[in-house]
Amino acid sequence: MCGIVGYIGEEQAAPILIEGLRRLEYRGYDSAGIAVKGDEISVIKEKGRIDNLQKSVKEENPCGTVGIGHTRWATHGIPDKSNAHPHKSQNGIVTLVHNGIIENYLEIKDELIKKGYEFKSETDTEVIAQLFDFFFDGDAVDTMIEVSQRLEGSYAVAMLVKGEGDKVFAMKKDSPLIVGKGKNENYLASDIPALLPYTNECYIVNDGEFIEIGKDSITVYDKSREKKNAEIKKVNLSVDDAEKGGYDCFMEKEIYEQPKAVKDTVSPLIKNGKIQLPFKFPEGFVKNLQRIYIVACGSAYHVGMTAKYIIEDMARIPVTVDIASEFRYRNPIIEKGDLCIFISQSGETADTLASLREAKKRGAFTLSIVNVMFSTIARESDGVIYTNAGAEIAVATTKAFSAQLGVSYVLASYLSYEKGCVSESELKEFTDEILSLPEKIQSALNTDEKTAQLAKSVSQKEHMFFIGRGIDYPLCLEGSLKLKEISYIHCEGYGAGELKHGTISLVEEGTIVAAVATDDALYGKMLSNIKEVHARGAYVIAVVKEGAKGIEQAADEVIYIPDASRFLTPSLTVVPLQLLAYHTTVLRGCDVDKPRNLAKSVTVE
Ligand code: AGP
Repeated sequence: MCGIVGYIGEEQAAPILIEGLRRLEYRGYDSAGIAVKGDEISVIKEKGRIDNLQKSVKEENPCGTVGIGHTRWATHGIPDKSNAHPHKSQNGIVTLVHNGIIENYLEIKDELIKKGYEFKSETDTEVIAQLFDFFFDGDAVDTMIEVSQRLEGSYAVAMLVKGEGDKVFAMKKDSPLIVGKGKNENYLASDIPALLPYTNECYIVNDGEFIEIGKDSITVYDKSREKKNAEIKKVNLSVDDAEKGGYDCFMEKEIYEQPKAVKDTVSPLIKNGKIQLPFKFPEGFVKNLQRIYIVACGSAYHVGMTAKYIIEDMARIPVTVDIASEFRYRNPIIEKGDLCIFISQSGETADTLASLREAKKRGAFTLSIVNVMFSTIARESDGVIYTNAGAEIAVATTKAFSAQLGVSYVLASYLSYEKGCVSESELKEFTDEILSLPEKIQSALNTDEKTAQLAKSVSQKEHMFFIGRGIDYPLCLEGSLKLKEISYIHCEGYGAGELKHGTISLVEEGTIVAAVATDDALYGKMLSNIKEVHARGAYVIAVVKEGAKGIEQAADEVIYIPDASRFLTPSLTVVPLQLLAYHTTVLRGCDVDKPRNLAKSVTVE
């Protein structure tokens, strides 16, 4: 979960590296550093945000047109200057930055200490630098290949090598790395937003490749040092996608981009009432499909839970939803003919990627729903449906979540039609409603003012509950995650019917409970649950569809969302929950886009 940048060209490297790190700061931000190749390789690094680094860079003003940079989310060693990257090897042979985790770093570190190497940090990254130093035979590519054979775990490494001043070198396994192709200059980055101000032509580095970059050359080697063709791709993003566009923060912008994100995602999949998936299932696969797994983490997992309700009800296929970090270790029963769906905004989440690989090994058809083009999960799946939400910068996902919901509705419709559960006219009716969602999401954004007002009381609390039934339940989990991950208020999402089996003991005078009650079939029961918590002193904020009866008498506050059929309400319910989290966080003075301890893409286990 760190950000790496590299530059080689004709401009001064330092400002370009800093700008690139700013665009990757959402990937980790507890310390940062750069290395610039001038007469010597100068390394400047600081604890804390990029601003701290920029101050030191201004003072030291390192000159040179080649450099690398890093913004860190600490895994090994506390976030401080000594553990910050770049790390220089003992003999100054190599200076490097790394994203990932080297699982056998202690074993290698012991070996190197016995060979006389001294370590200045607690990081696994410094072990890579010293190992490179130890193996270096004058050829950086050979040495990278040799080092890679000793490393276990994940890494994307960018390095400057002594005596190779007009080159940047890199290697990758499991962590993302992209080469940006410019005019008389080339770039390296962990993620596309860092490249956008300079180019949208890029080479996506594959596992087991070794890269040598000059200002007008990009050379790719495989592990036998054979040159490979570097296929340059154009990404469909502009620099605006990675800017705030007049909003106070990325999260607010991305909440308001949801109508467009959903429209850009679902419209290409629906033509004249028919579903057009951007991949093909094997012949007869859906007809014989008996079992679906959906595997993801965090908010993406909540999308999976929502999809389960819809697919099972509409297509009558059993769906198991797993948290990725559990799935891969529970020896899941997967057979050829099963469908495993992986949902991931970044397409780089380590646990989800590992689960994908496990499912493939066991013979499943793997389908991923991903927002970042050419990401590892997308590239390793049998089929991919991209959510065209555009670059999502805020750590707390919003527009990608909504776009993933849109894909879930389309997939459920496709499966239910292919399974003969709905007629062509019923399918058209449902797809028409999916296509009307962007407009309804737009009107759900009108709850902004109400949520801003409610945030005044929520922001005073240290605990909050979100309760719901049926398809509202995963939305309660999402509302709870959104609020807690950025405002640091302790929240719990709970099945409203389950609360009385213990947790209701935590409800006392003034406890705030958000009650999501959009499912007509369960509305009566929700009213009873609202009364249960109210009777114990709770302050209830209800989220219901326009026209809900009796809610004004039952709840203290009511947020109305536009009417929609029961399976599409999640796209509308989530909007006020996101806005409530946003406003509450602002009132609490927390960092909306870069909450403490988090990073946008969890590329370590
Ligand atoms: C979302 O608000 C969280 N930041 C986090 O739970 C995220 O959804 C999770 O890490 C999965 O990320 P992915 O979609 O990129 O795989």
